[in-house]
Amino acid sequence: MASKRTLSTFEKSYSKSPEGQERITQLRKQLAHFSAAAPAFIIPTDNEITFGVVSCSHLGSLYANLSGLVEFYKTAKREGAEFILHCGDVCDGAKMYKGQEYEQSAIGWEAQAKCFEDNAPGDLPTHFITGNHDESLKKLAGMDPGSDLARRRPDWKLIGSCTGRVVLDAGNGKSCIVDLMHPGGGSSYAVSYRPQKIVEQLEGGTKPNMLFIGHFHKAEWMPAYRNVCVAQSGCLQWQTPYMRDKGLAAHVGGWIVKVRMGDNCNMFAGSFVAFYR
Ligand SMILES: [Fe+2]
Repeated sequence: MASKRTLSTFEKSYSKSPEGQERITQLRKQLAHFSAAAPAFIIPTDNEITFGVVSCSHLGSLYANLSGLVEFYKTAKREGAEFILHCGDVCDGAKMYKGQEYEQSAIGWEAQAKCFEDNAPGDLPTHFITGNHDESLKKLAGMDPGSDLARRRPDWKLIGSCTGRVVLDAGNGKSCIVDLMHPGGGSSYAVSYRPQKIVEQLEGGTKPNMLFIGHFHKAEWMPAYRNVCVAQSGCLQWQTPYMRDKGLAAHVGGWIVKVRMGDNCNMFAGSFVAFYR
């Protein structure tokens, strides 16, 4: 199983040779995209790696598909995944819209965090970012919900607040930058419109190789938009009455992703594990 290290701990273990120092310089450039407040993680891998991607589990919602989340982890493990990336909205949060409390099984952060602590799958280690529903507690109560979740479950590593970056590093000059994002705002009429606009706004030289986008509860795979393999991560929450009223569909499931790093190319393959009821 791949271990997880931040750049600083990575540097300590890295060779002091000129090649080693050059590699650290390269990695520093790759990690420079996000603010220093967001820890970035290097995951040592082979040239080929399999992992899972989920988002929007909304634990504490009456419509959270917890059994689907559990089954997804088992499926991902069976398919050879080494870890899971979660693109935010781990819990349902509070006061996101009028009447939200009537769509919840766990009301208040303590109840939702306990639901997470007791039920979040642990078959594979998870790197997660928070989403706007998690972050609602920051606005309402001044607390740090992401850190609280990570404290309760050490197998769930917090890598950022609404954005995060991991570098899959094969250690032989080959690497793959993977960004997680939980943007704000609403969906558009066309499923791909918001992700296209997000990628169009990425500054040249800072783009990742892969970008996984949560929040919209949609599943989509665009393999090469501005040279970024972009996917919307789906969700593990059934359509809520709020979503139905707004005409918003829920694409329920998650991705199993295989990355192969070649000399002059990368191979990205995504399989969507879909849930229905
Ligand atoms: Fe969200």
